[in-house]
Parts: sequence; structure tokens; C-alpha cells
Amino acid sequence: MKILVIHGPNLNMLGQREPEVYGSVTLDEIDAALRERATAAGATLLTIQSNHEGALVDFLQVEGWDADGIIINPGALTHYGLALRDALAMLKAPIIEVHLSNVYRREPFRHTSVVAPVATGQIAGLGWRGYLLALEWLLEEGRT
Ligand code: DQA
Repeated sequence: MKILVIHGPNLNMLGQREPEVYGSVTLDEIDAALRERATAAGATLLTIQSNHEGALVDFLQVEGWDADGIIINPGALTHYGLALRDALAMLKAPIIEVHLSNVYRREPFRHTSVVAPVATGQIAGLGWRGYLLALEWLLEEGRT
């Protein structure tokens, strides 16, 4: 199984960035936890973080076609990233949209996701463990 983990803008700053909102766990720690679980399950994990929408689109165009599952936290691109949304829409793999914070309890601009209509499901507000829950689901239900 090949699983993609995609982190959008500013998520490289986790640990330092508004820890009261996003927690104190770093992106490297999240990726390491995901990799450990994926490896134990015999799955291959490819991860990317970029502050640039085009870099995420490029990655999906190369790696997305034969992916069996995609975990994505698009960061602020969630709310307006139509090129990212279209790149995801092309693919067959199930897509889980993850947010560390409960975006629906925050500012109104965070209540809209342009990614949600092309995602299989969404996890929001469960902190870094949301990524692990998404991975568990994909290991059970992802395309094989
Ligand atoms: C976020 C929520 C977004 O609104 C925000 O722009 C982020 C992080 C989250 O994980 O809670 O960068 O996706």
C-alpha cells in the first residue's frame, strides 16, 4: 500500500506556531509516528510539506495516480486552494482531510473547505492524533 501524507502552508512551524491552537507536537514527530505505524502495517508512506500550492499540485501529479490513500492537511489552502482541490479530484485514492484544530469553532472563513467535497472524509479538532486515526482508516479501507 502506498499512502501520501500532505501538509500545507505553515504546518512546518508546528510546535512553535500558536501551540494553544495547534499543540506542541512538531511536524517531524507527527510524520515519525505515522511512518512507524505504516511500516508496522507493511505500507509505504510518502510525506511532503510545502508553503506553495503549486509544489503540492506537482507532487500529486507525480505520486497520486498509484496512491492507495491520501491524508491531507491543506492548512489555509483548505479555504481557497482550488488548484489543490482540482489535483485531488483527479485521483482515485480515498482522501482524508485532517485539521488539528476544530475549524468549525473558529473564525467564519475557516468554516468553508474547498477540499471537503472531493474528500472521502474529514477529521477536525482531534490534534495530531487525527492523522493517526486517518491512517488507521486508510489501512483498513484504502484502495489496495
Ligand atoms: C488547520 C486549520 C486552517 O484553518 C489553518 O489555516 C491551518 C491549520 C488545522 O490543522 O487546524 O493552517 O488546517
